[in-house]
Amino acid sequence: MIKYNSKTREFHLYNKYFSYIIGILDNEQLGQYYFGEKIRHKETFSHLFEKKQCETPVTPSLDGKGFTLDLIKQEYPVYGTGDYREPALTIFQENGSRIVNFIYKEHSITKGKKKIEGLPSIYVNDGENAETLEIILEDEVINTKLILSYTIIENYSALMRSVKIINNSNEVLNIEKIMSLSLDLPDTNYTMMQLSGAWGRERHVIEKPLTRGITLIDSQRGTSSAMNNPFVGLRRPNTTLDTGEIIGINLIYSGNFSSVVESDPYDTTRVNIGINHFDFNWELEPGEEFQSPEAVLVYSNDGINGMSLTFHNLYKNNLIRGKYKNNIRPILINNWEGTYFDFNEEKIIKMAESASELGIELFVLDDGWFGTRNDDFQGLGDWDVNLEKLPSGITGLAEKINKLGMKFGLWFEPEMVNKNSKLYEKHPDWIISAPNRHKTEARNQYFLDLSRPEVADYVYESVAKNLRSANIEYVKWDMNRTMTEIYSHGRSFKKQKETVHRYFLGLYSILERLVNNFPNVLFESCASGGNRFDAGMLHYMPQTWTSDDTDAVERLKIQYGTSMVYPIPSMGSHVSITPNHQTKRITSLDMRGNVAIFGTFGYELNPKDLSEKDREDVKKQIRMFKQFRELMAVGDFYKIKSPFDGTETAWAMISPDKKEALVGYYKVLVDVNGGFKRIKLFGLDKNLDYTVTKIGEKKLENIGGDELTNIGLFVGNVQGHGLPEGDYYTELYHIKNLL
Ligand code: DGJ
Repeated sequence: MIKYNSKTREFHLYNKYFSYIIGILDNEQLGQYYFGEKIRHKETFSHLFEKKQCETPVTPSLDGKGFTLDLIKQEYPVYGTGDYREPALTIFQENGSRIVNFIYKEHSITKGKKKIEGLPSIYVNDGENAETLEIILEDEVINTKLILSYTIIENYSALMRSVKIINNSNEVLNIEKIMSLSLDLPDTNYTMMQLSGAWGRERHVIEKPLTRGITLIDSQRGTSSAMNNPFVGLRRPNTTLDTGEIIGINLIYSGNFSSVVESDPYDTTRVNIGINHFDFNWELEPGEEFQSPEAVLVYSNDGINGMSLTFHNLYKNNLIRGKYKNNIRPILINNWEGTYFDFNEEKIIKMAESASELGIELFVLDDGWFGTRNDDFQGLGDWDVNLEKLPSGITGLAEKINKLGMKFGLWFEPEMVNKNSKLYEKHPDWIISAPNRHKTEARNQYFLDLSRPEVADYVYESVAKNLRSANIEYVKWDMNRTMTEIYSHGRSFKKQKETVHRYFLGLYSILERLVNNFPNVLFESCASGGNRFDAGMLHYMPQTWTSDDTDAVERLKIQYGTSMVYPIPSMGSHVSITPNHQTKRITSLDMRGNVAIFGTFGYELNPKDLSEKDREDVKKQIRMFKQFRELMAVGDFYKIKSPFDGTETAWAMISPDKKEALVGYYKVLVDVNGGFKRIKLFGLDKNLDYTVTKIGEKKLENIGGDELTNIGLFVGNVQGHGLPEGDYYTELYHIKNLL
């Protein structure tokens, strides 16, 4: 899959899906020749290297003519030598210079992929065919090596890239910017896609045509953030959900990131992604090395769904780990919206009894069970059970819930401390805060400084001691603020700009220890809902609470957007009560269930508040979910109609052998006296015949996969000319090949 031609000095990385070609240029730097659909390997691709010389600064080349860096497509551009586009690397040296020149020294091509120590990354499973190319560049003036890593796995249209820098000099180097990936593309005919939003409306799809200049997608909040996800898509303007080209770039990282998409004066596009260089600097001492997070570059010529499916399968099989990888997750009930802080053991047991009668399998006790945590002004940091509320302790409560035939799960917010807590009283310097400055609170709490090993140890032990004390089979790991006054009291003044990245190294080390020492626990990450939904967290925790917004209509957009990159089983999605607590909207139980089923299904309510009719309907809903949960865990998810393009949404989960599918159809606002509706499905086998059953109705129809693809599935209750369906209308269709 990786070929090197020593005569032409070209690397061709390819599998059946894509090609990626790099050349060593006349100036010994690396040039980017091609990234796109697979092309047949041949002796040389050197004609792809477009170079010319103009009045702008000229770099010497072997043929004596020289070329202008600003005009060529580069593999890993640096600052300051004539390329005026966004650099991937800047290094400040002891003599004050920021100029570097990394040139090719050697390379290696090996089987498999090395683990990236201390950071979440893609791994290769036994039996999978993968190859890694490491290209070693060197700057002889500062005696420093730069290692560019590329891994390609046979069955994925994806390239994993990361960068390592090794300081072999006697001086301290300040790394001011180090991108995980930089990519130069030969034209600018793209529509750019980003996943942006805010609390309660996370990862909405925003698209715009690429125009001259720079677009920055980033986070400086100390979390990957709800405002911008570490993802960028570049699609051709006519690319659709199921046809056409799109490139997707995602960073496996949970902290501050930046991604720049630049369309330059010569009609090329540069895109990069990595740790946000704003407020970042890393002092690399002699002998030390620095490793960047990993970025994933996906190519699809099968439309947006093709890109999403590659991300989904790669993340399900090669990122997410542990017992619940690719496995069905228990249906859970979480007491947060049902009780908030107002609970005691009796109330919780009653809720659990009622939930277990409905068929729910896991009870999750949310915030408020520890210390003096009776509201959100106090208690964070003191992870001992509140025996006044829960006299049997967590041990006793877990036993009681287990006796009801349910697993027991517990909420933590271990990265935080309230001012009003024993921990803060004892260790006020353990928080991220600047000397002599106001300490900004958010939700009345501060960040514990996980960049300090002693603080990270405390945080690990706070959770571990509870996990050892009771039969806890699920943990919700919450995190409810963004960083301010970034400063660590455990570090010299020159290393302060390392604090955020070191925080994440600390967090990842805690999570690594926890998942290894408690392999039976299902971890779900959460950050005020979806403020840290990223591939970094998914490496440790197979699911993330997608949003605090549980309204079914809002969830259509949130789950659709999230599915651009992240697999359906990684999205926590629960049915809650109406009027909805976030929007006050009233939707039917069917609508709420039919949206939540496309995720890790659960409930966020007090089952004692349900009417008898609703209880019966919830039982039916749970039976239905159990029928499809296997399909939901292993299936391929196809987006069919976007909630961002009108009032209809449709999507489908299709089994990998294409013999079974569940289609969700949602119509948020009714069309009065509207036309007939049909939705053309993607992903089915056109040669198979299917029985199509509308859930809740007995009627079966036999329809060919070719018909469902080309003519479509007829949806809508009355086919347009009867009584209107009303707002928030939904249907589910079960499609099955019976042969
Ligand atoms: C924010 C989370 O997103 C909620 O689900 C809930 O766990 C609260 N925190 C508890 O404080």
